[in-house]
Amino acid sequence: MGYETIITAQHGRVLLITLNRPKALNALNSQLAAELIDAVRAADRDPGIGCLVLTGSERAFAAGADIKEMQNQSYDAMYAADWFAQWERFAATRKPVIAAVAGYALGGGCELAMMCDFILAAENAQFGQPEIKLGVMPGMGGSQRLTRVVGKAKAMEMCLTGRMMDAAEAERSGLVARIVPAAELVAEALKTAETIADMALPIAMMTKETVNRAYETTLAEGIRFERRVFHAMFSTAEQKEGMAAFVEKRPAQFRRD
Ligand code: HXC
Repeated sequence: MGYETIITAQHGRVLLITLNRPKALNALNSQLAAELIDAVRAADRDPGIGCLVLTGSERAFAAGADIKEMQNQSYDAMYAADWFAQWERFAATRKPVIAAVAGYALGGGCELAMMCDFILAAENAQFGQPEIKLGVMPGMGGSQRLTRVVGKAKAMEMCLTGRMMDAAEAERSGLVARIVPAAELVAEALKTAETIADMALPIAMMTKETVNRAYETTLAEGIRFERRVFHAMFSTAEQKEGMAAFVEKRPAQFRRD
């Protein structure tokens, strides 16, 4: 599929996806959603890809869902189309996805970054859920994911006032994993993604699935799930190779098929 609103580039076993609607600060319209979801689903099927990086421009990761596309929608049309439901297909990506965020990550942009597995932020990154200023509220998971990540006090303040959070506050609050100089953001995200892609792919995928379980279930069920998946890993070639390599004092050679 030839894409118009995103750019994809493979770097070894890492797929870099760059949002590419610069004139609209990467506002997320239906075409971009369809293309992005198509790209991540293809990457999920491609054994040559071990990790994904999603980024925008230096000015904006994404300034939100496309307001001009939504402006004249009715309740009936939104309900019939189940507007934004397609984004759950992005969130369901099975391989690890890193968000590399510079500039604005607002509304749907912040929500999209939170659908990724972790966020690396440039010093100029700004996060916010300003939908209330438009007479609506977050609609791509922000009221739920932001609250789980930063807690009720900050999430409530951000959703009710629409104020932005800078990179330092976002790191303090647990929204971003690390802050990097803007000029090094994509290189650092690719390096981190390569580290992940060098691991055993099925094990990285099972690890992602298990960490995500923490957001879906009780502690007791989550720990039981972890233990069952951990046990299952002992049926994999990856566990045999990884532990043999440690004992034999050599680097592990994981399968790449
Ligand atoms: C459509 C957008 C857009 C958006 C920016 N643009 N954000 N178009 N949807 N979300 C467009 C502008 O219209 C403008 O195009 C161009 O991008 C540059 O934006 P400016 O406003 O001129 O830039 P600047 O003055 O630097 O301000 C940057 C900004 C501001 C602070 C990020 O653009 C802004 O506040 N954007 C809206 C942010 C927002 O409210 N996001 C939440 C959306 S709702 P033109 O053609 O005019 O030059 C959402 C969740 C939906 O995401 C859930 C509810 C259903």
